[in-house]
Amino acid sequence: MKPPRKLHIKSYGCQMNVYDAQRMVDTLAREGFVETGSVDDADLVILNTCHIREKASEKVYSELGRLRAVKDEAARNGRQMRIAVAGCVAQAEGEEIIRRAPTVDVVVGPQSYHHLPQLLARATSHGRALETEFPVEDKFGFLPAPKPEAIRARGISSFVTVQEGCDKFCTFCVVPYTRGAEVSRPAAKIVDDVKRLADHGVREITLIGQNVNAYHGDGPDGRSWPLGRLLRRLAEIPGIARLRYSTSHPRDVDDPLIEAHRDLPALMPFVHLPVQSGSDRILAAMNRKHTAADYLGVIDRFRAARQDVAFSSDFIVGFPGETEEDFAATLALVTQIGYAGAYSFKYSPRPGTPAANMRETVSATEMDERLVRLQELIDGQQSAFNKAAIGRTVDVLFERAARNPGQIVGRTAYLQPAHVMASPDIIGQVLPVTIQSLERYSLLGKLAAPATTPAPPSPSQMTIGA
Ligand code: 5AD
Ligand code: SF4
Repeated sequence: MKPPRKLHIKSYGCQMNVYDAQRMVDTLAREGFVETGSVDDADLVILNTCHIREKASEKVYSELGRLRAVKDEAARNGRQMRIAVAGCVAQAEGEEIIRRAPTVDVVVGPQSYHHLPQLLARATSHGRALETEFPVEDKFGFLPAPKPEAIRARGISSFVTVQEGCDKFCTFCVVPYTRGAEVSRPAAKIVDDVKRLADHGVREITLIGQNVNAYHGDGPDGRSWPLGRLLRRLAEIPGIARLRYSTSHPRDVDDPLIEAHRDLPALMPFVHLPVQSGSDRILAAMNRKHTAADYLGVIDRFRAARQDVAFSSDFIVGFPGETEEDFAATLALVTQIGYAGAYSFKYSPRPGTPAANMRETVSATEMDERLVRLQELIDGQQSAFNKAAIGRTVDVLFERAARNPGQIVGRTAYLQPAHVMASPDIIGQVLPVTIQSLERYSLLGKLAAPATTPAPPSPSQMTIGA
């Protein structure tokens, strides 16, 4: 038997890339590849790239420069190493990568990962291979399901893609160009995936998509199912203790989603709902299709359905035309909402997007300064939110042994890491933990009730905020 070939994948960017990397591993496992943690002994290195912000493509070229040296060294030792570029930079700049980086054997866009084996074969016979089309077939129908060992090795929390692409066309964003039009997977396929994951020990599912709550997959009843309906079905699957979804657009928050939050204890009360700016002028220039008041209205609907819901968001500072007054509106919105956490970014023009043609008006210094002010405000809110857990008893889903001997780490409903001293038997269970202290971003506590013998946990309600 031939020894297995080794595959190293380096992923950048979003959760979708993490998920896609696993699908590539599963696809190539069929071809006899096993994963390796280092590039040095890899027969195939895949850079799974991100194009969302900053000089993403420049980073790819410098990484390729480093890989070229490793590849040349392998060749000197009589070993062939191949290099593939996947992800959104591959999609956006495929031809240029082929031109600029002769060391690259394969360039593959996100819609074509199921063709990886053929592309590798083509690279062997023709020297190199590029595929950045949007094929008509649904790649999910062709990507193999992970093997039980792979599911177990990846732990108790898993991503599942439910939709891909976006039709919103925010003027700053490359996603509609790199990931294409919005496509939802049929509900039955997602149910099958989740059942399979649950059968092999997964307890938490995060449904992912670039605009996840635009989901409208075909349901088994012949109707189109919104995300809320899908969540309702997934909550019935034995073994699934927690459900999450990311990333949502405020415009696509509909009643079925709000009702799912009201009715499903397994649906975690933590919603990532990017707003980007608090200024209506800037929101309009961004083509966000909502105002600050609309966003606040959506937040209120969640809060009315479930009083312990908390929010995170994304913000862009320094969008073309953003004045100090616009920025103040963003700070005011953050103050009014009170986030459990948020990501903030400096605007970076993305080639091919409408905003890239707008005149940039905010200097680099102003952008830096606004970013610091916004992050300080958000950091303050985040630490207040974390501190509020001290003294409370909250449900924690235990994930793995921590670095400190004897400690097991899990997450609260709000994704806060929580550590307790306990036996590893509790991994996979949701147990109440009394929080005693906070160390940086981690909560420390003790089990509030003795752990039961390991059994599939039943969905249990958070006690925080009660
Ligand atoms: N510049 C800065 N930030 C951006 N994002 C998306 N495109 C850009 C850009 N051109 C941010 C948005 C989005 C997050 C994933 O990345 O805040 O929600
Ligand atoms: Fe990009 Fe999100 Fe806007 Fe879609 S909704 S264009 S993914 S920022």
